[in-house]
Amino acid sequence: MKVALVFSIQLGFLILVQCASNQFLPYSKFLKIQHLKQTYGSPNLSTDDFVVHVDSHDGLKAADKISRLPGQPSESKFNQYSGYVTVDPHHGRALFYYFIESENNSSTKPLVLWLNGGPGCSSLGSGAMMELGPFRVNKDGKTLSINKYSWNQVANILFLESPAGVGFSYSNKSSDYKTSGDTQTAKDSYTFLVNWFERFPEYKTRDFYITGESYAGHYIPQLAQLILNSNHVAINLKGIAIGNAYIDDETQQTGSRDFWWFRSIVSDEIHDGIVKHCNFSWKSVLSDKCKTYLNEEYQMIRDIYAYDIYAPLCLNGTSVETTGFDPCSEDYVQSYMNIPEVQKALHANLTGLPGPWSDCNYDIFNNWTDQPFSMLPTIQQLMGTGIRFWMYSGDTDSSVPVTTTKYAIKKLNTTIKTPWYPWYLNDEVGGFAVVYENLTFVTVRGAGHFIPNFKPDRALALFSSFLDGKPPAS
Ligand SMILES: *[C@@H]1O[C@H](CO)[C@@H](O)[C@H](O)[C@H]1NC(C)=O
Ligand SMILES: *[C@@H]1O[C@H](CO)[C@@H](O)[C@H](O)[C@H]1NC(C)=O
Ligand SMILES: *[C@@H]1O[C@H](CO)[C@@H](O)[C@H](O)[C@H]1NC(C)=O
Ligand SMILES: *[C@@H]1O[C@H](CO)[C@@H](O)[C@H](O)[C@H]1NC(C)=O
Ligand SMILES: *[C@@H]1O[C@H](CO)[C@@H](O)[C@H](O)[C@H]1NC(C)=O
Ligand SMILES: *[C@@H]1O[C@H](CO)[C@@H](O)[C@H](O)[C@H]1NC(C)=O
Ligand SMILES: *[C@@H]1O[C@H](CO)[C@@H](O)[C@H](O)[C@H]1NC(C)=O
Ligand SMILES: *[C@@H]1O[C@H](CO)[C@@H](O)[C@H](O)[C@H]1NC(C)=O
Ligand SMILES: *[C@@H]1O[C@H](CO)[C@@H](O)[C@H](O)[C@H]1NC(C)=O
Ligand SMILES: *[C@@H]1O[C@H](CO)[C@@H](O)[C@H](O)[C@H]1NC(C)=O
Repeated sequence: MKVALVFSIQLGFLILVQCASNQFLPYSKFLKIQHLKQTYGSPNLSTDDFVVHVDSHDGLKAADKISRLPGQPSESKFNQYSGYVTVDPHHGRALFYYFIESENNSSTKPLVLWLNGGPGCSSLGSGAMMELGPFRVNKDGKTLSINKYSWNQVANILFLESPAGVGFSYSNKSSDYKTSGDTQTAKDSYTFLVNWFERFPEYKTRDFYITGESYAGHYIPQLAQLILNSNHVAINLKGIAIGNAYIDDETQQTGSRDFWWFRSIVSDEIHDGIVKHCNFSWKSVLSDKCKTYLNEEYQMIRDIYAYDIYAPLCLNGTSVETTGFDPCSEDYVQSYMNIPEVQKALHANLTGLPGPWSDCNYDIFNNWTDQPFSMLPTIQQLMGTGIRFWMYSGDTDSSVPVTTTKYAIKKLNTTIKTPWYPWYLNDEVGGFAVVYENLTFVTVRGAGHFIPNFKPDRALALFSSFLDGKPPAS
């Protein structure tokens, strides 16, 4: 089966579990990554380091308007746009976006950028079509249905396929696909935004937020920092929110192991062995004994859907009938996105890109060139800038589990303002929340990695709270 998102660069096996053949060697990836010259923290990104290419965008907004998507159930009551923004004219590199305005009073609602992670996965395929967008692709792979918990009820949402090589985003210089990494992704996303605001100038002064999940735990703080460090364009950044955030390699490792153990997937013996023999800290090298235990652990987790340990698998492309999450969603989206009329309606693939479109590009993932070990120094810096900063976690995800975020927050040394409490939606506990100085952390009970897909009502309640700047109601 295939998988929608990928994450752990360091121990790549976690990700590839579900799509790899039996020959897959869990540690080959890890050994490769050890050769990737990793820095501890992310560089301090600013526009002093590169020239931001800016085009004229006259008339392009009108050309990007989508009249109707094939298979759309009814006329939409909101405007939809999509198209390309060139971020590097010399290489011929362009990023693809999908933008949905809010149905009600869009001119007074904030603008929110959504980013999926990977690295290498599409915000259009995952974010828009499987999670928080207005439509879901039906099982036939051809028609759409309405998501009544779409986040465009409360905001105007911009989905960006990033970096080049992901989804419909591309570069005419194919060597760019070999040099993708955190830094280039941040620069290109910034250049995209500056140009996008030229195309949609009415949004220039609008309250602006960045949200996303997973490996966007790297993208979002890096882009936020770049925006705040760059004063030649005013982007009105008010806050960021990251779901099941991949932000620190050490707590990613320790937190995942504790999660699998506490959820009774991994035995005490294996877990004890890992605790005793594995050191996941910066610059440490895994011992052979540690690797043996990790392999034993892998045998326990390998046939469980990593993004929700209680969900069924997508077997042979057909899902068992369940309520809620359909593990084959990615297949339906893949079929839909490859329909020529859909690409035409989206103004996508105008240059005959090698196909097919797929939700995650493993070549981009495999050839990633730079990523810091930890985003915590950047996050600490952002926490002092006065922007709103939230993290949230679906508590049944095992790929970037809730424990990893809790352990990472501990490392931030912030202080509790409102202690951990249950929050409610429709008289049920929606999850738990805790407010720290400059940071709010919220869990979503019973949700896997793609929170708005697993628990759409709770996800929308959480997102609305975030925009209101108020922790979810107790
Ligand atoms: C990439 O190349 C094609 C074909 O030459 C061209 O039409 C397109 O504009 C180029 N893309 C960019 C972003 O320059
Ligand atoms: C739109 O905003 C106006 C003015 O703030 C308000 O009176 C109206 O009720 C709003 N409409 C909707 C549908 O929210
Ligand atoms: C827009 O406002 C109308 C009237 O208040 C309401 O019935 C509808 O649900 C709103 N739509 C969205 C997407 O919020
Ligand atoms: C980061 O770079 C910006 C712009 O060059 C500078 O103003 C700021 O002081 C730097 N911050 C740190 C922590 O080095
Ligand atoms: C783990 O490795 C780091 C880096 O090599 C080292 O500083 C630290 O002492 C080690 N921790 C333990 C518990 O051995
Ligand atoms: C999936 O296909 C394999 C091989 O064709 C078959 O052995 C297996 O029973 C199928 N599983 C399901 C759930 O249909
Ligand atoms: C782009 O369009 C061509 C047909 O013109 C198609 O063969 C190819 O699969 C498409 N690429 C993507 C990424 O969908
Ligand atoms: C990326 O890595 C894969 C191996 O995982 C390789 O087959 C592929 O050619 C590489 N792609 C590029 C564009 O370098
Ligand atoms: C919170 O932000 C303020 C500035 O807004 C800063 O002085 C303080 O150090 C920050 N505290 C933490 C724990 O980030
Ligand atoms: C948190 O506090 C500990 C103990 O005072 C210190 O060693 C560590 O460097 C601090 N971490 C951060 C990220 O500031």
